[in-house]
Amino acid sequence: MEEQVLSLLRKNPSGFVSGQEISRHLEVTRTAVWKRVKSLRHMGYEIEASRRLGYRLVRSPDLLAPSEILPILRTKWMGKRVRYFRTIDSTNAEAYQLALRGAKEGEIVLAESQEQGRGRVGRQWFSPAFLNLYLSVILRPNIPPHRASLLTLMAAVATADAIEEYAGLHPTIKWPNDLLLNGRKIAGLLNEIHAETDRIHFVVLGIGVNLNVDRQRFPQMIRDRATSLKEEMGQKIARKAFLAILLESLEKWYGVFPKDGGASVLDAWRDRAQIAGKQVKISSFDEVIVGRAVDVDSEGALLVQMRNGQRKRIVAGDVDYRGPKAVRGPRRGKRQIPGHK
Ligand code: BTN
Repeated sequence: MEEQVLSLLRKNPSGFVSGQEISRHLEVTRTAVWKRVKSLRHMGYEIEASRRLGYRLVRSPDLLAPSEILPILRTKWMGKRVRYFRTIDSTNAEAYQLALRGAKEGEIVLAESQEQGRGRVGRQWFSPAFLNLYLSVILRPNIPPHRASLLTLMAAVATADAIEEYAGLHPTIKWPNDLLLNGRKIAGLLNEIHAETDRIHFVVLGIGVNLNVDRQRFPQMIRDRATSLKEEMGQKIARKAFLAILLESLEKWYGVFPKDGGASVLDAWRDRAQIAGKQVKISSFDEVIVGRAVDVDSEGALLVQMRNGQRKRIVAGDVDYRGPKAVRGPRRGKRQIPGHK
């Protein structure tokens, strides 16, 4: 009901809508309309009320609610159905359950905060309320399970592009899928897959982006290694605008992906990661591998040339760069975002 009141107020962005008109449209009493307005104000909407003229929406809060997002979304199918939570254990866990119950490709789960945000290798993802982005996207790709990690690379590239488009900054990728700005982590991806031997049922793309959190709010353990877009840009981030750009970017890259077997995703990933030739130390399960990164293969695994001359293929792990940094590729210019303030 609040959503319907909002949508009527939005239809007349500069003027008032009378209480009578709203009550007629929604077939409820004017007292019921007033109660909805009060509840919307409680959620942070600024609504002017005039006895004579009715109601006027003055300002919307920075919430990732469907009523805020859907009007600004420019995608064809990605994110057109949104499940939104003030708080949740993990958006990935919720999306996984939804997908098991048949949720369609492109459905997304968003939360303002997570109580048990999941990070890679069993870590927690710092998820304070109303500041960042916690997003899970349900996909049903028609690819064999061994190619699923390419989707993670795809999501990393799409998220990096969205950051670049919004901020004009150039994020780099740290294998397999950490996004860094000035050497500090700004976003992480956790993709969870449900498959049988030769068929994927669904993939949940989990994306966490630090947008408005201040550096001193990060837990001590990660404070030196983490950052947020607000810290890097020196200004508050419009979360809704960022989300709209990110969903567009994901839709675009997911569309490119099947056409060339992932070649353009890999090229874009390589361009951002510049990993070839770097001296690396990788913790992978119980092993520590030291050597020189050669490339990623067509399934996203890291190929490392070890000191004993052997070449190793690593599918999962944490990487540390050891030697001098590789030279970064040419920086692309800032793109103009229409309608973005
Ligand atoms: C990493 O460790 O780098 C991956 C972090 C992934 C965090 C995101 S936030 C939205 C989604 N829900 C989760 O519980 N995790 C992912």
